Amino acid sequence: MAKVTIDGITIEVADGTTILQAARMIGPDVAPPTMCYYSKLKTSGGYCRTCLVEVSKGSEKDPRPMPKLVASCRTGVMDGMEVKNTSSEKVRDARAGVVEFLLLNHPLDCPVCDQAGECHLQDLSYEHGNYKTRTEFERRTFDKIDIGNKIQLHMTRCILCYRCVKTAEQITDGRVHGVINRGDHAEISTYVEQAIDNDFSGNVIDVCPVGALTDKTFRFKSRVWFTKPMYAHRNCDKCSGKVSLWYKGDDVLRVTGRKDQWGEVEEFICNTCRFDKKSTSDWVIEGPAPINRHSVISANKYAKLVKPKEFTLNDIKAITD
Ligand code: SF4
Ligand code: FES
Repeated sequence: MAKVTIDGITIEVADGTTILQAARMIGPDVAPPTMCYYSKLKTSGGYCRTCLVEVSKGSEKDPRPMPKLVASCRTGVMDGMEVKNTSSEKVRDARAGVVEFLLLNHPLDCPVCDQAGECHLQDLSYEHGNYKTRTEFERRTFDKIDIGNKIQLHMTRCILCYRCVKTAEQITDGRVHGVINRGDHAEISTYVEQAIDNDFSGNVIDVCPVGALTDKTFRFKSRVWFTKPMYAHRNCDKCSGKVSLWYKGDDVLRVTGRKDQWGEVEEFICNTCRFDKKSTSDWVIEGPAPINRHSVISANKYAKLVKPKEFTLNDIKAITD
């Protein structure tokens, strides 16, 4: 066992626990944000750097601080370690920088993006980002790609978190998509234009933190905040059959996996449940789904946040000059 202190709160955890896992055990107030780590996927994490933390004391044996900020999803705790997340100015600065990098090429098309309202990048930039960009360069763009008849890839919005690749690799047979090229040419692509066609392919939609992979059966049907999620289940011979149904009035607009408090799918669901069962009569309704801490459906979502500074005429002049 190892004792670790995060933002002044001490917890004892099993050896081999990462700083991020220990922080999540303490609770959402000290848990660093994550854009690529996904607890249900092996080897996820280590790509986006949003989970950076400061290790102000390495361990009881070697109390020297770590010289640089570390990715909490990839760094194991040591006995006596002291970590600063929200209490570190260096972390707040670095995280704002990471958000700026993630947004360098990400389009600001939230008003027309289906992920708006449940986009982790939108939340991240609201909570940790700067209120204006310093970049003057054009964002890179890609043509939209149909991945089969149910999934739309909008590579322009991708932040290369690799979650969809790992999902396809770990829960489906015969992965046919991945990241090709490197640097700012890197893109998610299907292998020689193949469609992703297997029973669990739809899960890449649920794990995508942004609007790069969206459900074509739901696209442009409704803003998420006009829908009501309900827990429901059915007997399914391929998956657990436990889902969230997203209602508008009496219509089921989409079916997704259920998500935990970190916005991660609890159990992956099959394509039959996701795409082919859109009638209430297909399901046993359990009741309203708990609302995710980041969801815009949640009342008072923004109540405790310090709102970004409003633009003044001088700010606008500084940007346009
Ligand atoms: S498409 Fe989505 S899940 Fe896949 S790498 Fe890009 S951002 Fe991540
Ligand atoms: S969540 Fe740790 S690097 Fe992305």
